[in-house]
Amino acid sequence: MRPSEVLTRATAYLERHGVESARESAEALMMTVLSTDRAGLYARSEGLSMGEARTFGRALCQRCAGTPLQHLTGEQAFRRISVTVRPGVFIPRPETEVLVEVALECLGRREEPVVVDVGTGTGAVALAIADERPGSRVFATDLSPEAVELSTENAARLGLSVTVLQGDLLDPLPPTLRGAVDLVVSNPPYVTDAEYDDLPAEVRADPRLALVGGTRLHERLAAGAIRWLRRGGALAVEIGASQGPEVAKVLERSYEDVGIVPDLARRDRIVVGRRP
Ligand SMILES: C[S@@+](CC[C@H](N)C(=O)[O-])C[C@H]1O[C@@H](n2cnc3c(N)ncnc32)[C@H](O)[C@@H]1O
Repeated sequence: MRPSEVLTRATAYLERHGVESARESAEALMMTVLSTDRAGLYARSEGLSMGEARTFGRALCQRCAGTPLQHLTGEQAFRRISVTVRPGVFIPRPETEVLVEVALECLGRREEPVVVDVGTGTGAVALAIADERPGSRVFATDLSPEAVELSTENAARLGLSVTVLQGDLLDPLPPTLRGAVDLVVSNPPYVTDAEYDDLPAEVRADPRLALVGGTRLHERLAAGAIRWLRRGGALAVEIGASQGPEVAKVLERSYEDVGIVPDLARRDRIVVGRRP
C-alpha cells in the first residue's frame, strides 16, 4: 500500500477515536516514522516496510490514547523556529507566539537589548526572541532541571545564543544585570488548582509545575522584576483569559502604561507594563 493510501486509512482511524486535526496528525506521525518532509511523503511510491508500518501503528494507538502529538513527533513549531519537545517539559502553545510579538514591540529599536525569559520550558520564547532580534542578549531561567537541560539543548541545536540558568524566577541572574534589563518576559504557570482537575488528560501530560499557579507567579514576578529592569524597561506576562483585570491591577501598583493585549482568538492573553 502506498503511503498516501495508508494515510487515508490512518486519518479515518484517528477521526473515529475523536482525535482533532486527524489528517495533519496522521501526516506528522508518518513524516516522523519515515524521517521525511511532506514533499517526500507524497513523492514516495514504495510502501511502508514491516518495521515502519508497526512503528506507525503504535504511534496512532498512542495518539488515540491521549499522548500529545508533539511527544510522538518530538518537536513543536514556534514562530520561525522548531523546538525539540519531550515529556517532562511544557509543550509551547501557539497563543504564546503573541507574547513574542509583544516582546519585540517593547524592545523597539534599542541596540543590544537585555532580555530575560522567566520559566523558559523548551526555551521557545527566549529562542524566538534571539532568532528575531539578532544582537539581543537573552537570558532564560527555569526551576525545572529538565527544562534547563532541554532549552540548553535547543539553543545549541538552533545555533542561537541564550544563557539558561536554573532557579526561582529572577534569582539565578548575575547581579551585574540589576537595573540593566530591558525586558522581562514570561509565560508562567497560571492554571488554578480547581481548573487543573478539569483539564483534559492531554493537557495534564505537561508537568504540574508548568501549569498550576493562578496569579501567584505574576504577583511575585511583578514585585521582583522592578528590581532588575532599567527605567523604561518592560514586563510582559502571559495570563489566563479571565485574569486580565486582576493581573493589570497588580502591575499598576508599580508599573506605568499597563495594558492588556488579546490573542488571535480575541481572548485577553498578555499584560504589559513599563518601569517608571
Ligand atoms: C507554562 S510553562 C511555559 C514554558 C515556556 N515559556 C513556553 O511558553 O512554552 C511555565 C514554566 O515555568 C517554570 N516555572 C514554574 N515555576 C517557576 C519558578 N518559580 N521559577 C522559574 N520557573 C518556574 C515551569 O517549570 C515551566 O517550564
